Amino acid sequence: MTYKTPSILTIDDDPKNLILISKMLKKSFSEINIYSASSGHAGLLLANKYLPDTIILDVIMPDIDGFTVCKSLKDNIKTKDIPIIMITGMEVQMQAKIKALNMGADAFLPKPIRKAELIAQIKVMLRIKFAEDKLKKEKELLEQLVDKRTKRLRLLAANTLAVQEEERARISRELHDELGQMLVGLQMGHDSLLRTIDKNKIVCQSKIVLKNKVNELINMTEFTFESVRKVISDLRPPVLDHLGLIAAIEWLKTEFHKKTTISITLINPLKHDISFTNEQNTAVFRIIQESLTNIAKHSKATKVIIQIKRTNKNILFEIKDNGIGIDIKKIDSMKNFGILGMQERASDFDWTVEIEGSADKGTVVTLMTRNETTR
Ligand SMILES: Nc1ncnc2c1ncn2[C@@H]1O[C@H](COP(=O)(O)OP(=O)(O)OP(=O)(O)O)[C@@H](O)[C@H]1O
Ligand SMILES: [Mg+2]
Repeated sequence: MTYKTPSILTIDDDPKNLILISKMLKKSFSEINIYSASSGHAGLLLANKYLPDTIILDVIMPDIDGFTVCKSLKDNIKTKDIPIIMITGMEVQMQAKIKALNMGADAFLPKPIRKAELIAQIKVMLRIKFAEDKLKKEKELLEQLVDKRTKRLRLLAANTLAVQEEERARISRELHDELGQMLVGLQMGHDSLLRTIDKNKIVCQSKIVLKNKVNELINMTEFTFESVRKVISDLRPPVLDHLGLIAAIEWLKTEFHKKTTISITLINPLKHDISFTNEQNTAVFRIIQESLTNIAKHSKATKVIIQIKRTNKNILFEIKDNGIGIDIKKIDSMKNFGILGMQERASDFDWTVEIEGSADKGTVVTLMTRNETTR
């Protein structure tokens, strides 16, 4: 089976042979590109220039003989994979045949050339050549794919580290600015309370002062607790570990509405929670979280629907917005990591994330999970 018009180069010092072979080829192939060279040197030049699919090579030629041409072709990285059929009228055919094959020739035909044999041999060579070309191309494509993926993963890893650093800095700031201040406040409150107790004999009026001070401290402690809860929640909402995935999605929904005021609905037809592993719960949670972050950042949407659907044994999570619609072509895999991260998380469990967008309908992110069994 051929994938392109085959091209054949014939190298022979006898012009009659060149014409004869050319005629045979034209008769036997509906489409063919034929190149002819009347010397070994000219043959080497044409082979390098056109990279034909098969070369028919005469052994005895005045400038350089066919054996030398064959060796040069096989030593050259560009031409080494081109099949060579050697043709000779030499008396001692067996020895010539062995020598030709040793030089790297792929087939050997004696003169006078029989058309049927030559054509059959060329067809075999073309079959091999095209199969090899196809394999080479597939290998190249595979290598490119692996290369591209490796590059993206490296960038993703670097980005993950950067995000981690940013998160650490944020937590440290939060602890410093909020908790730090509160704790200093509490400390000062305690000190002043002690001083008040030391200085005063407790009389009725100072009792009120003391009570107010204690109330202040109680308020400050509550604030501190709230602040700690916020840091913890942002890192990993305890609801995910304590109440399960559906409750965590509800929490995401509420938080999203609080922060953006965009209307958001959760449609969940499941009667029970979903029995994923902890890691799978985290993956679903983070994928929905990133989808919502993207909606807040990019979509200009006014409405969001998170829908959980069951299909046979699979569960599907759909996050739909009515915004400007994602333009998949504009995603730069070297700069945007959210969607890449979602896909990586999903692929850890052999799940898929599909994203579709259109200017009039908005964006739909669909996470398709597999092999879940409900309790
Ligand atoms: N819901 C959406 N509506 C419209 N455009 C979107 C939506 N979600 C994503 N996009 C587009 O897809 C791009 C890629 O999103 P992705 O989450 O991968 O990266 P990002 O949000 O730009 O950056 P980050 O790496 O911080 O997530 C975005 O830059 C945005 O242009
Ligand atoms: Mg994003």
